[in-house]
Amino acid sequence: VAGGIVPPVARLAAEPAVEQRAHASHKGSWGDVAVIGGAPGMRGAALLAATAALHGGAGRVYVGLLDGDAGTLHGQQPDLMFRDPDRLDLDDMHVACGCGGGDAVRARLPRVLEAAASLVLDADALNAIAADPALQEKLRDRGEGRPTVLTPHPLEAARLLQVGVDDVQRDRLQAARLLGERLGCCVVLKGSGTVVAAPGALPHVNPTGNARLAVAGTGDVLAGMIAARLAAGRPPLAAACEAVFAHGRLADRWPAGSHLTAAELARAVHLPGEVSLPPS
Ligand code: APR
Ligand code: MG
Repeated sequence: VAGGIVPPVARLAAEPAVEQRAHASHKGSWGDVAVIGGAPGMRGAALLAATAALHGGAGRVYVGLLDGDAGTLHGQQPDLMFRDPDRLDLDDMHVACGCGGGDAVRARLPRVLEAAASLVLDADALNAIAADPALQEKLRDRGEGRPTVLTPHPLEAARLLQVGVDDVQRDRLQAARLLGERLGCCVVLKGSGTVVAAPGALPHVNPTGNARLAVAGTGDVLAGMIAARLAAGRPPLAAACEAVFAHGRLADRWPAGSHLTAAELARAVHLPGEVSLPPS
């Protein structure tokens, strides 16, 4: 970094979240992630988040697909556990919700907001919340004990704030901070120069990442990466900063001459040199 000044987010990410995977640890020690999303035609989004959570170190990853036709996927994804999204016991789970959720996610949100131990809300979950003050109230009710990270791109943030996308982009720091304060959540405002904000904390601007990430599905990968860190017990602001930093750095280190795709990114989450992931 120019002038030797290390931005806070870089310092955070340079500190390993977990120094070593304790020898006596078991899959329960690394937490359970549940991904709820993947409406018809958008299964891929849920699978990308789940794959990223798995490679991000989560002990167990469940997928509650909203398209009701999960059976055919078992063989292709043997390390993911497919469940009826309405029967997942969410109390001890770190849930990523919304990834490819479509309209079907709205009906699941009251239960998810009440039950999930920690929560990453993305895409259609955010759009549903933007349209429904009762869901916003439920979100605020979760409080600090059951943390929530919102991961809007600028348009999703604009809907939540009920302003134009230009207003969000004109002052991204302020938009992220305002959203975090209004909803009592940690906010990751995505895009070039991703902002991470949380109530009572200084917002961070992430220094990593580039336009290789401008391809569908990379946002779903980020949601899974954050969920894995929450599952490992990281506090929400640290989980978000570390995941955003690592996600961007993967793109910065992507082999020249090869296009980044979201599926490859999800599987690269464990690449050697990642400092903030639990060693496998
Ligand atoms: N520089 C740095 N990071 C970038 C850049 C850039 N120029 N462009 C994109 N990114 C990063 C963002 O910060 C974010 O982490 O890539 C990710 C993109 O996430 P999303 O915007 O959520 O996109 P994604 O969900 O993967 O795909 C598009 O979003 O609007 C919905 O329905 C739409 O399916 C579509 C989906
Ligand atoms: Mg998205």
